[in-house]
Amino acid sequence: MTDDVHAIAGRAMDEVAAAGDLAELEGLRQRYLGRRDGTLSTLRRGIGSIGDVEARRQLGQTINELVTRVSEAIDGRRAQLETAGEDHDEPLDLTRPAPPLRRGRLNPVTIAAGEMRRIFAQLGYTVVGGPEVEYDRYNFTLVNQPPGHPARDSHDTFYIDDSRLLRTHTSPVQIRSMLQHGAPQRVIVPGKSFRRDYDASHLPMFHQVEGLCIDEGIAISDLKGTLEYFAHSFFGRDARVRWRPHHFPFTEPSLEMELSCVVCGGTGCSLCGHTGWLELLGSGLVHPAVLRNGGIDPDRYSGFAFGMGIERAAMLAYGVQDIRLLYENDVRFLQPVSAGA
Ligand code: DAH
Repeated sequence: MTDDVHAIAGRAMDEVAAAGDLAELEGLRQRYLGRRDGTLSTLRRGIGSIGDVEARRQLGQTINELVTRVSEAIDGRRAQLETAGEDHDEPLDLTRPAPPLRRGRLNPVTIAAGEMRRIFAQLGYTVVGGPEVEYDRYNFTLVNQPPGHPARDSHDTFYIDDSRLLRTHTSPVQIRSMLQHGAPQRVIVPGKSFRRDYDASHLPMFHQVEGLCIDEGIAISDLKGTLEYFAHSFFGRDARVRWRPHHFPFTEPSLEMELSCVVCGGTGCSLCGHTGWLELLGSGLVHPAVLRNGGIDPDRYSGFAFGMGIERAAMLAYGVQDIRLLYENDVRFLQPVSAGA
């Protein structure tokens, strides 16, 4: 009888040590120690039928000791299991199903830039690039902003030294592309730009896409036709645009294109400041002095140019309120946003 009790307790200890989770452990406590029909409890009740008093006392004591040991083993294993998640002490269970994988998504800025490339490629534009660390000369002087020009101040420039800076816009690539490819040409320049700015609609690093179209006889009608086609392709056929006079040093005349509000559709809301319209891009006919700086004869050729913030276009297209969300890489934000893209 005593041997049986030791054998049962031994098995109980083995099973407790191997218990894989708290539920299994609780099952073992019931099976061995449960008040009503736990194996050891039942044996303890059975000793009343042993005639020999001394044998009964001995067995009772043995069973009590074993109950205590099994109970302590269960408590010890419970503590182990409870902290296993924290210290990875858990035995490796290769049969457990893997946690579901979360698929990554392209960033909305990447999606928007790809869409822009695709739309302008259909119109015969090729993609060109230029350096992000740029000469002051290209960034400002050659696009009609000589030293001392007031428009330089509005750019909050990161200077590297007297002659170099982080480009504040993609417009210097107009000059580089003109010098390299001459006329005629049709190019877009998607790329990074940098300004000392940081709030819900500005970041120190952002993206622009510059466009440049040069040929004989290019007129405002070409500019409007091209950019209206773009707006409908990118924002959908229901999008409406309007043109407003503006000023940029590198274009003459200059126009700003506005888009009917993506939230209210034009009736007026807080996003559009109750005007029904949102600024989308700057554009104009390339200033003759800029053509000349790019080595192109303004008496023979004319052109139009435009520049647009890619983050801004993505925010309007996908309804993102704070530009900073685009760069936090939180998959809970990126998934629904780019799924709707
Ligand atoms: N470079 C201007 C900016 O960063 C945007 C721009 C406006 C570019 C008009 C152009 C243009 O090419 O024609 O604010």
